[in-house]
Amino acid sequence: MSLTAQVALIAVVDSNPVFRNEVAQALISLYRVHQYSDTRQALQALRLEAPAVILVDEEADSKGGFQFIAEMKRDPVLAAIPAIVTTKRDPLSIAQAMRQCGADSSLTKPFRRSALIRTITSLVNKHVEADWEHLPERDKTTLKGTVSVFNEISDFIAAGEPVPFTSVKEACAPLIDAIASNDFKGILSGVKEHDNYSYAHSLRVATLLSLFGHTLGLKHDDQLVLASGGLLHDAGKISIPHEVLNKPGRLSEDEFLIMKSHVTETIKFLEVAHDIPKPVIIIAAQHHEKLDGSGYPFNLKGAELNDLARMASIVDVFSALTDRRVYKPPMEAETALAIMTGEMSHHLDQHFLAMFREMLMDAVVD
Ligand SMILES: [Fe+2]
Ligand SMILES: [Fe+2]
Repeated sequence: MSLTAQVALIAVVDSNPVFRNEVAQALISLYRVHQYSDTRQALQALRLEAPAVILVDEEADSKGGFQFIAEMKRDPVLAAIPAIVTTKRDPLSIAQAMRQCGADSSLTKPFRRSALIRTITSLVNKHVEADWEHLPERDKTTLKGTVSVFNEISDFIAAGEPVPFTSVKEACAPLIDAIASNDFKGILSGVKEHDNYSYAHSLRVATLLSLFGHTLGLKHDDQLVLASGGLLHDAGKISIPHEVLNKPGRLSEDEFLIMKSHVTETIKFLEVAHDIPKPVIIIAAQHHEKLDGSGYPFNLKGAELNDLARMASIVDVFSALTDRRVYKPPMEAETALAIMTGEMSHHLDQHFLAMFREMLMDAVVD
């Protein structure tokens, strides 16, 4: 199996190619999508590679969604695949049919991208998020609140509407409280196995960046701005195709150009809103700048780099190296720090990095 094949697969069964394409487009940066025009075709394919979740339309040829799911759930090999019924009817009127066939969830057409993603990721992440239920109240609130605002952000961006900054700030507030009482490890480990990589990475950046601010003695409100900046810093990745975003190996020159555009896309999205604090925009705009001027998109150099950018790039690089990806296990913190003080020493502010390292040793973040 190729490494990219480990990205969760979603199967869509619907007789309408326009609908299937819309779903595929909506999921492109998060999942692989296989489309089937009828249930017979889908059934054969499911046996070759089981998807993480299947969406079947109530009216799909030739069996119809409910009968297809009932058969699937009776088959010992396929029974565990979570199934979503797509329908034109409201949830109440299909409740009985849902129960009878064993479907896990339903979506009434037309639905928003966030509803689609929420429904799918909640099934994919059922185990991860089920474990959140056993966490202390504040950890649970932080994880649930940030994942839901993170999903919402993509809807606003897609609709060209301003990112709701107040909601982002509110979702990050319990994180700052957790940091103040030095009790945020449950949040970091809770997000570790989450299937939405962009969310997991952004929440880790938000946590470490606000912890960094706390260590430097910043006020509560400034820490909140850092956390919000962390959660939003890569929002523009929503425009980057899945194949580029999740490519295991080196990106080609063209792919790298596409990847780099996530920064300008993020700036564009954030500037639509008028209440986003300047520091949040700076974090997003400058987190890929490097001290020697070799970063992007502005090739800022030395003193041109804001302190926030110096902090954000350290946290972002550290998180990216130590994140679990579909194609790589997480790197040990010490190994990541050795790279950051070694081959990356011309990129990162070594004074801030020494403080960051001390902070990690104090917090024993793994
Ligand atoms: Fe980035
Ligand atoms: Fe990032």
